[in-house]
Amino acid sequence: MAGLRTIFHTRLLQASPFSIRALRFASSFKAADLTIERSKTCKPKPDPSKLVFGKQFSDHMLTINWSEKNGWAAPEIKPFQNLSLHPASSALHYSIELFEGMKAFRGADNHIRLFRPTLNMERLHRGTERCCLPVFDKGELLNCIKKLVEIDQEWVPYSQDTSLYIRPTFIGTEPSLGVSRTGQALLYVIIGPVGPYFATGFFNPVSLLADPSFVRACKGGVGSYKMGGNYGPTIMIQNEAVKQGCQQVLWLYGEEEEITEVGTMNLFIYWTNENGEKELVTPPLDGIILPGVTRQSLLDLARSWGEFKVTERTVNMKELLGALDAGRVLEVFGAGTACVVCPVGSLLYKEKTYQIPTMENGPDLTKRFHKELTDIQTERRGRLKKTRSGGGSAGSHDVN
Ligand SMILES: Cc1ncc(COP(=O)(O)O)c(C=O)c1O
Repeated sequence: MAGLRTIFHTRLLQASPFSIRALRFASSFKAADLTIERSKTCKPKPDPSKLVFGKQFSDHMLTINWSEKNGWAAPEIKPFQNLSLHPASSALHYSIELFEGMKAFRGADNHIRLFRPTLNMERLHRGTERCCLPVFDKGELLNCIKKLVEIDQEWVPYSQDTSLYIRPTFIGTEPSLGVSRTGQALLYVIIGPVGPYFATGFFNPVSLLADPSFVRACKGGVGSYKMGGNYGPTIMIQNEAVKQGCQQVLWLYGEEEEITEVGTMNLFIYWTNENGEKELVTPPLDGIILPGVTRQSLLDLARSWGEFKVTERTVNMKELLGALDAGRVLEVFGAGTACVVCPVGSLLYKEKTYQIPTMENGPDLTKRFHKELTDIQTERRGRLKKTRSGGGSAGSHDVN
């Protein structure tokens, strides 16, 4: 019923004044129309202790085609295979491409659950509109993804440090070199097992390069969307960080050198603020920050504890260095689906290295967040309350 209401609402918003064409855009594929072609052979499952991120894929994939002429085709689950794309496809030339990153976990009770998948569906949908790709019903896509995970459930590793990574991808496939809204698109989902993020041991702190001459995103741009075009250009800067002996980039922005994100993670600072209060701070969603599912979950958790101040506001380098100098910084960490939380140990800024006392402080809060969130993901404890941003069901979703 909720799904129907969503479609109806979208129609109302989009139908005028473009009538029939807009209605095509508004219509969605349906999970009930899924066709399933099972793979005749099953690949051997990799050894969970040797998993490498993003290199192993399951036996099946989900594909859903769309064209301006015919609207959405029925979703298909079929054997994992290469795509066949026209060389002029708009995704290849103008980065009309969106993706998501989410995970399914095998719980202690052997049930498989997706963690807050509605937030990923909402983020993908927001990007869809920004890329002028066709809209769809988020609940229908989620049901198709659940079916794919159910079919390939043996690919969800039987070990609590590991999980199944899910990569929904949405590309423009129109064979035309004109820079215009794509008239053909493909929404597809691939999945594969991934190992623990901290392969070299639990909670190794990372060192960061903070160089104000590089930016990840800018105001008025598309940094708050998970568009492939945001990521390719960061690789050179990441390589620069490694050349300078650092592991990740701390992305700064603007004259004031605002602290924005770390690598492909949201950034959190836990400190004693200038008023002497314990405070957890993360940059606000002002257009240059990716609205991370983990970010939202940590904010929800911290607010539910009510033990310290929780603030979404801009912090600049001057303020952070001043707080470090005054001994007020307790922990700095990144947050994202890949690692949940990742402690930060040092900062290279204008040729000077600043030590961050995250590890000296436990890191108590970083570890607590890690435990709480992984307990929820594997259903060792209760679910999160609904997010303040209204992100639909806020807990895990059962697959099997
Ligand atoms: C730039 C950026 N920031 C933050 C995140 C963390 O988001 P999430 O918690 O949804 O994985 C990601 C990962 O998707 C990212 O690419």
